[in-house]
Amino acid sequence: MANSATLEISLSAICSVVLEKRSLSAFCYPEDSSAETKSLVFGTIRFYHQLNDIVTQLLKHPIEKDNLDIHCLLLLGAYQLLYSDIPAHAAIFETVNVTNYLDKSWAKGLVNAILREVDRQKDSLQKQTHYSHPTWMVKKIKQNYPDHFEQIFANNNIQAPMTLRIHPKYPVADYQQSLTDEGIQSSLSKVAPQALMLDKPVSVYDLPGFDSGACYVQDASAQLAAHILDPQANDYILDACSAPGGKAIHLSELAPSSRIVALDIDTERLERVQQNIDRFNIQNIELKSGKAQDQDWHNPTDAPLFDKILLDAPCSATGVIRRHPDIKLLRKPKDINALVELQSQILENLWSMLKPGGTLLYATCSILKAENEFQMADFLYSHEDASEVKIDLDWGIKTVIGKQQLPTYEFDGFYYAKIKKSLCATSS
Ligand SMILES: C[S@@+](CC[C@H](N)C(=O)[O-])C[C@H]1O[C@@H](n2cnc3c(N)ncnc32)[C@H](O)[C@@H]1O
Repeated sequence: MANSATLEISLSAICSVVLEKRSLSAFCYPEDSSAETKSLVFGTIRFYHQLNDIVTQLLKHPIEKDNLDIHCLLLLGAYQLLYSDIPAHAAIFETVNVTNYLDKSWAKGLVNAILREVDRQKDSLQKQTHYSHPTWMVKKIKQNYPDHFEQIFANNNIQAPMTLRIHPKYPVADYQQSLTDEGIQSSLSKVAPQALMLDKPVSVYDLPGFDSGACYVQDASAQLAAHILDPQANDYILDACSAPGGKAIHLSELAPSSRIVALDIDTERLERVQQNIDRFNIQNIELKSGKAQDQDWHNPTDAPLFDKILLDAPCSATGVIRRHPDIKLLRKPKDINALVELQSQILENLWSMLKPGGTLLYATCSILKAENEFQMADFLYSHEDASEVKIDLDWGIKTVIGKQQLPTYEFDGFYYAKIKKSLCATSS
Protein backbone atom coordinates (compact mmCIF):
# COMPACT_ATOMS: atom_id res chain seq x y z
CA MET A 1 0.00 0.00 0.00
CA ALA A 2 1.42 3.40 -0.99
CA ASN A 3 1.61 5.77 1.96
CA SER A 4 1.17 9.53 1.64
CA ALA A 5 4.96 10.12 1.58
CA THR A 6 5.35 7.74 -1.39
CA LEU A 7 2.43 9.46 -3.10
CA GLU A 8 3.93 12.87 -2.45
CA ILE A 9 7.18 11.95 -4.26
CA SER A 10 5.19 10.32 -7.07
CA LEU A 11 3.12 13.49 -7.38
CA SER A 12 6.24 15.68 -7.70
CA ALA A 13 7.48 13.50 -10.57
CA ILE A 14 4.07 13.55 -12.27
CA CYS A 15 3.79 17.36 -11.91
CA SER A 16 7.29 17.81 -13.38
CA VAL A 17 6.13 16.05 -16.57
CA VAL A 18 2.52 17.25 -16.80
CA LEU A 19 2.95 20.85 -15.61
CA GLU A 20 6.61 21.70 -16.23
CA LYS A 21 6.91 19.59 -19.41
CA ARG A 22 10.15 18.04 -18.18
CA SER A 23 11.37 14.62 -19.17
CA LEU A 24 10.78 11.85 -16.62
CA SER A 25 14.43 10.80 -16.88
CA ALA A 26 15.41 14.29 -15.63
CA PHE A 27 13.46 13.83 -12.38
CA CYS A 28 15.70 13.17 -9.35
CA TYR A 29 13.99 10.70 -7.05
CA PRO A 30 15.20 10.76 -3.44
CA GLU A 31 17.78 8.01 -2.95
CA ASP A 32 15.55 5.83 -0.81
CA SER A 33 12.60 5.93 -3.24
CA SER A 34 10.80 2.61 -3.54
CA ALA A 35 10.11 0.65 -6.73
CA GLU A 36 6.44 1.34 -5.93
CA THR A 37 7.02 5.10 -6.27
CA LYS A 38 8.37 4.69 -9.80
CA SER A 39 5.66 2.24 -10.72
CA LEU A 40 2.97 4.76 -9.66
CA VAL A 41 4.68 7.53 -11.64
CA PHE A 42 5.15 5.45 -14.80
CA GLY A 43 1.62 4.07 -14.56
CA THR A 44 -0.01 7.48 -14.12
CA ILE A 45 2.00 8.97 -17.00
CA ARG A 46 1.37 5.90 -19.16
CA PHE A 47 -2.41 6.26 -18.75
CA TYR A 48 -2.37 10.06 -18.48
CA HIS A 49 -4.65 10.68 -21.48
CA GLN A 50 -7.30 8.27 -20.27
CA LEU A 51 -7.11 9.36 -16.62
CA ASN A 52 -7.20 13.01 -17.63
CA ASP A 53 -10.38 12.47 -19.69
CA ILE A 54 -12.03 10.67 -16.76
CA VAL A 55 -11.06 13.27 -14.14
CA THR A 56 -11.90 16.24 -16.39
CA GLN A 57 -15.37 14.81 -17.03
CA LEU A 58 -16.06 14.28 -13.33
CA LEU A 59 -14.94 17.75 -12.28
CA LYS A 60 -17.84 20.24 -12.47
CA HIS A 61 -15.38 23.07 -13.14
CA PRO A 62 -11.80 22.82 -14.33
CA ILE A 63 -9.27 23.37 -11.51
CA GLU A 64 -7.64 26.83 -11.61
CA LYS A 65 -4.09 27.31 -12.82
CA ASP A 66 -2.55 27.73 -9.35
CA ASN A 67 -3.93 24.40 -8.17
CA LEU A 68 -3.08 22.10 -11.04
CA ASP A 69 -1.08 19.95 -8.61
CA ILE A 70 -4.49 18.91 -7.25
CA HIS A 71 -5.52 17.90 -10.77
CA CYS A 72 -2.35 15.76 -10.98
CA LEU A 73 -3.14 14.28 -7.56
CA LEU A 74 -6.55 13.23 -8.89
CA LEU A 75 -4.82 11.48 -11.82
CA LEU A 76 -2.56 9.63 -9.38
CA GLY A 77 -5.56 8.63 -7.27
CA ALA A 78 -7.54 7.47 -10.32
CA TYR A 79 -4.54 5.44 -11.52
CA GLN A 80 -4.38 3.57 -8.20
CA LEU A 81 -8.10 2.83 -8.32
CA LEU A 82 -8.19 1.64 -11.93
CA TYR A 83 -4.81 0.00 -12.44
CA SER A 84 -3.22 -1.02 -9.14
CA ASP A 85 -4.07 -3.67 -6.58
CA ILE A 86 -4.10 -1.11 -3.76
CA PRO A 87 -7.45 -1.46 -1.92
CA ALA A 88 -9.76 1.43 -2.87
CA HIS A 89 -10.30 2.69 0.69
CA ALA A 90 -6.51 2.88 1.28
CA ALA A 91 -5.84 4.54 -2.09
CA ILE A 92 -8.49 7.20 -1.44
CA PHE A 93 -7.47 7.78 2.20
CA GLU A 94 -3.75 8.19 1.43
CA THR A 95 -4.32 10.28 -1.69
CA VAL A 96 -6.63 12.66 0.20
CA ASN A 97 -3.93 12.94 2.88
CA VAL A 98 -1.44 14.33 0.34
CA THR A 99 -3.47 17.55 0.31
CA ASN A 100 -1.99 18.17 3.81
CA TYR A 101 1.56 17.95 2.44
CA LEU A 102 0.58 20.38 -0.28
CA ASP A 103 -0.90 22.71 2.34
CA LYS A 104 -4.16 22.57 0.43
CA SER A 105 -6.52 20.96 2.90
CA TRP A 106 -9.40 22.87 1.25
CA ALA A 107 -9.11 20.29 -1.58
CA LYS A 108 -9.78 17.28 0.71
CA GLY A 109 -13.50 17.14 0.01
CA LEU A 110 -13.00 17.53 -3.74
CA VAL A 111 -10.32 14.80 -3.99
CA ASN A 112 -12.38 12.48 -1.82
CA ALA A 113 -15.57 13.03 -3.85
CA ILE A 114 -13.96 12.60 -7.29
CA LEU A 115 -12.01 9.48 -6.29
CA ARG A 116 -15.10 7.90 -4.73
CA GLU A 117 -16.93 8.52 -8.00
CA VAL A 118 -14.09 6.93 -9.99
CA ASP A 119 -14.31 3.92 -7.69
CA ARG A 120 -18.10 3.73 -8.12
CA GLN A 121 -17.75 3.78 -11.92
CA LYS A 122 -14.68 1.51 -11.94
CA ASP A 123 -16.26 -1.44 -13.80
CA SER A 124 -17.64 0.62 -16.67
CA LEU A 125 -14.50 2.79 -16.91
CA GLN A 126 -12.32 -0.32 -17.13
CA LYS A 127 -14.44 -1.67 -19.99
CA GLN A 128 -14.07 1.47 -22.11
CA THR A 129 -11.47 1.36 -24.88
CA HIS A 130 -9.06 4.23 -24.55
CA TYR A 131 -5.72 4.16 -26.38
CA SER A 132 -4.31 6.72 -23.94
CA HIS A 133 -2.24 8.54 -26.56
CA PRO A 134 -2.55 12.18 -27.70
CA THR A 135 -5.03 12.70 -30.54
CA TRP A 136 -2.41 13.71 -33.11
CA MET A 137 -0.38 10.58 -32.39
CA VAL A 138 -3.45 8.33 -32.61
CA LYS A 139 -4.21 9.86 -36.01
CA LYS A 140 -0.66 9.50 -37.31
CA ILE A 141 -0.19 5.92 -36.10
CA LYS A 142 -3.59 4.90 -37.52
CA GLN A 143 -2.65 6.49 -40.86
CA ASN A 144 0.74 4.76 -40.91
CA TYR A 145 -0.53 1.37 -39.70
CA PRO A 146 -4.22 0.85 -40.53
CA ASP A 147 -3.83 -2.88 -39.84
CA HIS A 148 -1.64 -2.75 -36.74
CA PHE A 149 -2.59 0.34 -34.71
CA GLU A 150 -4.57 -1.54 -32.01
CA GLN A 151 -1.57 -3.75 -31.30
CA ILE A 152 0.78 -0.72 -31.28
CA PHE A 153 -1.32 1.22 -28.75
CA ALA A 154 -1.72 -1.85 -26.55
CA ASN A 155 2.02 -2.63 -26.56
CA ASN A 156 2.92 1.01 -25.92
CA ASN A 157 0.90 0.78 -22.71
CA ILE A 158 2.65 -2.23 -21.18
CA GLN A 159 5.80 -2.28 -19.09
CA ALA A 160 8.80 -3.35 -21.18
CA PRO A 161 10.98 -6.22 -19.99
CA MET A 162 14.52 -5.63 -18.73
CA THR A 163 16.77 -7.16 -21.39
CA LEU A 164 20.51 -7.77 -21.05
CA ARG A 165 23.19 -8.01 -23.69
CA ILE A 166 25.76 -10.52 -22.50
CA HIS A 167 29.39 -9.86 -23.34
CA PRO A 168 30.45 -12.25 -26.15
CA LYS A 169 33.30 -13.58 -23.99
CA TYR A 170 30.65 -15.40 -21.91
CA PRO A 171 28.48 -18.11 -23.51
CA VAL A 172 24.93 -16.76 -23.03
CA ALA A 173 23.71 -20.08 -21.61
CA ASP A 174 26.44 -19.94 -18.91
CA TYR A 175 25.49 -16.40 -17.93
CA GLN A 176 21.83 -17.43 -17.86
CA GLN A 177 22.77 -20.21 -15.42
CA SER A 178 24.62 -17.73 -13.19
CA LEU A 179 21.46 -15.58 -13.17
CA THR A 180 19.36 -18.63 -12.25
CA ASP A 181 21.80 -19.36 -9.40
CA GLU A 182 21.02 -15.86 -8.09
CA GLY A 183 17.28 -16.56 -8.36
CA ILE A 184 16.89 -14.38 -11.50
CA GLN A 185 14.84 -16.10 -14.21
CA SER A 186 15.36 -15.18 -17.88
CA SER A 187 14.71 -16.30 -21.44
CA LEU A 188 16.80 -16.32 -24.61
CA SER A 189 15.95 -14.36 -27.74
CA LYS A 190 15.50 -16.17 -31.06
CA VAL A 191 16.92 -13.18 -32.97
CA ALA A 192 19.44 -11.29 -30.85
CA PRO A 193 22.23 -13.80 -30.10
CA GLN A 194 23.52 -12.15 -26.91
CA ALA A 195 20.14 -11.20 -25.41
CA LEU A 196 18.58 -12.44 -22.18
CA MET A 197 15.15 -11.16 -21.23
CA LEU A 198 14.54 -11.11 -17.48
CA ASP A 199 11.18 -12.30 -16.15
CA LYS A 200 11.26 -9.41 -13.65
CA PRO A 201 13.43 -6.29 -13.52
CA VAL A 202 16.22 -6.28 -10.92
CA SER A 203 18.79 -3.76 -9.74
CA VAL A 204 21.83 -3.84 -12.06
CA TYR A 205 23.98 -4.35 -8.95
CA ASP A 206 22.32 -7.75 -8.47
CA LEU A 207 23.56 -8.89 -11.91
CA PRO A 208 26.64 -11.14 -11.77
CA GLY A 209 29.75 -9.32 -13.07
CA PHE A 210 27.87 -6.11 -13.89
CA ASP A 211 30.68 -3.85 -12.57
CA SER A 212 33.29 -5.56 -14.71
CA GLY A 213 31.25 -5.40 -17.93
CA ALA A 214 29.68 -8.86 -18.08
CA CYS A 215 26.45 -7.38 -19.41
CA TYR A 216 24.76 -4.21 -20.66
CA VAL A 217 21.07 -3.37 -20.25
CA GLN A 218 19.72 -2.95 -23.79
CA ASP A 219 16.53 -3.87 -25.61
CA ALA A 220 16.75 -6.78 -28.08
CA SER A 221 15.95 -4.55 -31.12
CA ALA A 222 18.81 -2.19 -30.27
CA GLN A 223 21.14 -5.19 -29.88
CA LEU A 224 20.80 -5.92 -33.59
CA ALA A 225 22.57 -2.73 -34.77
CA ALA A 226 26.12 -3.99 -34.27
CA HIS A 227 25.34 -7.39 -35.84
CA ILE A 228 23.76 -5.75 -38.90
CA LEU A 229 26.68 -3.32 -39.35
CA ASP A 230 29.02 -6.31 -38.96
CA PRO A 231 32.25 -4.60 -37.79
CA GLN A 232 35.55 -6.22 -38.83
CA ALA A 233 39.10 -6.00 -37.48
CA ASN A 234 40.79 -2.75 -38.61
CA ASP A 235 37.52 -1.09 -39.72
CA TYR A 236 37.39 2.64 -39.07
CA ILE A 237 33.87 3.16 -37.72
CA LEU A 238 31.81 6.22 -36.82
CA ASP A 239 28.97 5.91 -34.30
CA ALA A 240 27.40 9.28 -35.06
CA CYS A 241 24.87 9.74 -32.24
CA SER A 242 26.45 7.52 -29.70
CA ALA A 243 25.51 8.41 -26.12
CA PRO A 244 25.17 6.59 -23.76
CA GLY A 245 27.27 4.23 -25.87
CA GLY A 246 25.26 0.99 -25.93
CA LYS A 247 25.84 0.33 -29.61
CA ALA A 248 29.43 1.68 -29.69
CA ILE A 249 30.40 -0.69 -26.86
CA HIS A 250 28.73 -3.57 -28.70
CA LEU A 251 30.67 -2.73 -31.90
CA SER A 252 33.85 -2.77 -29.82
CA GLU A 253 32.97 -6.14 -28.25
CA LEU A 254 32.45 -7.67 -31.71
CA ALA A 255 35.57 -6.08 -33.26
CA PRO A 256 38.06 -5.14 -30.52
CA SER A 257 40.74 -4.20 -33.05
CA SER A 258 38.53 -1.89 -35.07
CA ARG A 259 38.83 1.87 -34.48
CA ILE A 260 35.62 3.53 -33.36
CA VAL A 261 34.79 7.22 -33.12
CA ALA A 262 31.83 7.87 -30.80
CA LEU A 263 30.30 11.26 -31.53
CA ASP A 264 27.50 13.02 -29.67
CA ILE A 265 26.18 16.57 -29.47
CA ASP A 266 25.59 16.33 -25.71
CA THR A 267 28.75 16.50 -23.59
CA GLU A 268 26.96 15.35 -20.43
CA ARG A 269 25.68 12.28 -22.22
CA LEU A 270 29.20 11.67 -23.57
CA GLU A 271 30.34 11.32 -19.93
CA ARG A 272 28.01 8.32 -19.72
CA VAL A 273 29.76 6.82 -22.76
CA GLN A 274 33.08 7.32 -20.92
CA GLN A 275 31.68 5.58 -17.81
CA ASN A 276 30.64 2.63 -19.96
CA ILE A 277 34.04 2.56 -21.69
CA ASP A 278 35.63 2.40 -18.23
CA ARG A 279 33.27 -0.30 -16.98
CA PHE A 280 34.02 -2.46 -20.04
CA ASN A 281 37.74 -1.53 -20.05
CA ILE A 282 37.57 -0.65 -23.75
CA GLN A 283 40.60 0.65 -25.65
CA ASN A 284 39.35 1.28 -29.20
CA ILE A 285 36.71 4.01 -28.78
CA GLU A 286 37.59 7.68 -29.16
CA LEU A 287 35.02 10.24 -27.97
CA LYS A 288 34.15 13.35 -29.97
CA SER A 289 31.77 16.10 -29.09
CA GLY A 290 29.96 17.74 -32.01
CA LYS A 291 27.02 17.81 -34.37
CA ALA A 292 26.58 14.93 -36.79
CA GLN A 293 25.36 17.37 -39.46
CA ASP A 294 28.77 19.17 -39.33
CA GLN A 295 32.34 17.99 -39.85
CA ASP A 296 34.27 20.40 -37.60
CA TRP A 297 34.75 17.69 -34.93
CA HIS A 298 36.65 15.52 -37.42
CA ASN A 299 40.35 15.74 -38.15
CA PRO A 300 40.65 14.64 -41.80
CA THR A 301 44.45 14.30 -41.59
CA ASP A 302 43.78 11.54 -39.08
CA ALA A 303 41.82 9.38 -41.54
CA PRO A 304 39.50 11.16 -43.89
CA LEU A 305 36.73 8.64 -44.52
CA PHE A 306 35.04 5.92 -42.52
CA ASP A 307 34.60 2.28 -43.57
CA LYS A 308 31.34 2.01 -41.67
CA ILE A 309 28.94 4.50 -40.14
CA LEU A 310 26.18 3.85 -37.63
CA LEU A 311 23.63 6.65 -37.60
CA ASP A 312 21.32 6.02 -34.62
CA ALA A 313 19.48 9.19 -35.50
CA PRO A 314 17.72 11.64 -33.19
CA CYS A 315 14.05 10.71 -33.63
CA SER A 316 10.53 10.91 -32.22
CA ALA A 317 11.20 7.80 -30.06
CA THR A 318 7.66 6.62 -30.86
CA GLY A 319 8.95 3.03 -30.79
CA VAL A 320 10.01 3.21 -27.14
CA ILE A 321 6.91 4.81 -25.59
CA ARG A 322 6.48 1.81 -23.27
CA ARG A 323 9.89 2.65 -21.73
CA HIS A 324 9.39 6.44 -21.87
CA PRO A 325 5.64 7.08 -21.53
CA ASP A 326 6.32 10.82 -21.03
CA ILE A 327 6.98 10.99 -24.80
CA LYS A 328 3.19 10.94 -25.21
CA LEU A 329 2.96 14.21 -23.29
CA LEU A 330 6.14 15.94 -24.38
CA ARG A 331 6.40 15.22 -28.11
CA LYS A 332 4.49 17.68 -30.32
CA PRO A 333 3.42 17.24 -33.97
CA LYS A 334 5.73 20.01 -35.17
CA ASP A 335 8.71 18.10 -33.73
CA ILE A 336 8.31 15.41 -36.38
CA ASN A 337 8.99 17.71 -39.35
CA ALA A 338 11.98 19.24 -37.57
CA LEU A 339 13.37 15.76 -36.83
CA VAL A 340 12.87 14.58 -40.40
CA GLU A 341 14.77 17.65 -41.64
CA LEU A 342 17.61 17.10 -39.13
CA GLN A 343 17.88 13.39 -40.00
CA SER A 344 18.11 14.30 -43.67
CA GLN A 345 20.89 16.87 -43.01
CA ILE A 346 22.83 14.35 -40.92
CA LEU A 347 22.46 11.64 -43.56
CA GLU A 348 23.69 14.02 -46.27
CA ASN A 349 26.72 15.05 -44.22
CA LEU A 350 27.71 11.56 -43.09
CA TRP A 351 27.36 10.13 -46.57
CA SER A 352 30.20 12.43 -47.65
CA MET A 353 32.32 11.02 -44.78
CA LEU A 354 31.85 7.40 -45.90
CA LYS A 355 34.44 5.63 -48.08
CA PRO A 356 33.40 4.40 -51.53
CA GLY A 357 32.43 0.78 -50.90
CA GLY A 358 31.56 1.64 -47.27
CA THR A 359 28.35 0.88 -45.39
CA LEU A 360 25.99 3.14 -43.48
CA LEU A 361 23.41 1.75 -41.08
CA TYR A 362 20.52 4.14 -40.46
CA ALA A 363 18.59 3.36 -37.27
CA THR A 364 15.77 4.98 -35.32
CA CYS A 365 13.62 3.98 -32.36
CA SER A 366 10.67 5.49 -34.22
CA ILE A 367 7.71 3.80 -35.88
CA LEU A 368 6.78 6.80 -38.03
CA LYS A 369 7.28 6.20 -41.74
CA ALA A 370 8.35 9.81 -42.39
CA GLU A 371 11.44 9.23 -40.23
CA ASN A 372 12.13 5.76 -41.57
CA GLU A 373 11.22 4.22 -44.90
CA PHE A 374 10.16 7.54 -46.50
CA GLN A 375 13.34 9.22 -45.26
CA MET A 376 15.48 6.44 -46.73
CA ALA A 377 13.48 6.21 -49.96
CA ASP A 378 14.12 9.95 -50.49
CA PHE A 379 17.79 9.45 -49.72
CA LEU A 380 18.22 6.57 -52.18
CA TYR A 381 16.27 8.44 -54.83
CA SER A 382 18.65 11.42 -54.62
CA HIS A 383 21.92 9.43 -54.29
CA GLU A 384 22.86 7.33 -57.29
CA ASP A 385 25.84 5.95 -55.40
CA ALA A 386 23.62 4.48 -52.64
CA SER A 387 22.05 1.04 -52.75
CA GLU A 388 20.19 -1.00 -50.19
CA VAL A 389 21.74 -4.06 -48.57
CA LYS A 390 19.14 -6.60 -47.48
CA ILE A 391 18.83 -7.17 -43.73
CA ASP A 392 18.52 -10.92 -43.46
CA LEU A 393 16.92 -11.33 -40.04
CA ASP A 394 13.68 -12.85 -38.83
CA TRP A 395 12.76 -9.52 -37.28
CA GLY A 396 10.31 -6.75 -38.22
CA ILE A 397 8.35 -6.05 -41.40
CA LYS A 398 10.10 -5.49 -44.73
CA THR A 399 9.31 -1.93 -45.81
CA VAL A 400 9.98 -0.03 -49.05
CA ILE A 401 13.56 0.40 -47.81
CA GLY A 402 14.84 -1.31 -44.66
CA LYS A 403 12.97 -3.17 -41.93
CA GLN A 404 10.52 -1.89 -39.34
CA GLN A 405 9.86 -3.59 -36.03
CA LEU A 406 6.65 -2.52 -34.32
CA PRO A 407 6.63 -2.66 -30.51
CA THR A 408 5.97 -6.15 -29.13
CA TYR A 409 6.63 -7.57 -25.68
CA GLU A 410 10.14 -8.72 -26.69
CA PHE A 411 11.10 -5.83 -28.98
CA ASP A 412 11.07 -2.06 -28.87
CA GLY A 413 9.75 -0.43 -32.03
CA PHE A 414 12.84 0.11 -34.19
CA TYR A 415 13.86 0.71 -37.79
CA TYR A 416 17.03 -0.27 -39.66
CA ALA A 417 18.15 0.44 -43.22
CA LYS A 418 21.56 -0.69 -44.44
CA ILE A 419 22.99 1.29 -47.34
CA LYS A 420 26.14 0.67 -49.36
CA LYS A 421 28.12 3.34 -51.18
CA SER A 422 29.21 2.27 -54.65
CA LEU A 423 32.91 2.21 -55.46
CA CYS A 424 32.74 4.63 -58.40
CA ALA A 425 29.44 6.51 -58.95
CA THR A 426 28.93 10.04 -57.57
CA SER A 427 25.84 11.56 -55.95
CA SER A 428 23.45 13.38 -58.26
C1 LIG B 1 18.90 7.43 -29.55
S1 LIG B 1 20.15 8.25 -28.70
C2 LIG B 1 21.53 7.28 -29.13
C3 LIG B 1 21.65 6.01 -28.37
C4 LIG B 1 23.01 5.36 -28.59
N1 LIG B 1 23.29 5.15 -29.99
C5 LIG B 1 23.14 4.05 -27.86
O1 LIG B 1 23.00 2.99 -28.47
O2 LIG B 1 23.41 4.08 -26.64
C6 LIG B 1 20.39 9.65 -29.71
C7 LIG B 1 21.60 10.48 -29.36
O3 LIG B 1 21.75 11.45 -30.39
C8 LIG B 1 22.34 12.59 -29.84
N2 LIG B 1 22.13 13.68 -30.81
C9 LIG B 1 20.99 14.39 -31.03
N3 LIG B 1 21.18 15.26 -32.02
C10 LIG B 1 22.47 15.11 -32.45
C11 LIG B 1 23.25 15.72 -33.45
N4 LIG B 1 22.75 16.69 -34.22
N5 LIG B 1 24.53 15.33 -33.60
C12 LIG B 1 25.06 14.36 -32.80
N6 LIG B 1 24.35 13.73 -31.83
C13 LIG B 1 23.07 14.10 -31.66
C14 LIG B 1 21.64 12.75 -28.51
O4 LIG B 1 22.40 13.54 -27.63
C15 LIG B 1 21.50 11.29 -28.07
O5 LIG B 1 22.57 10.94 -27.21
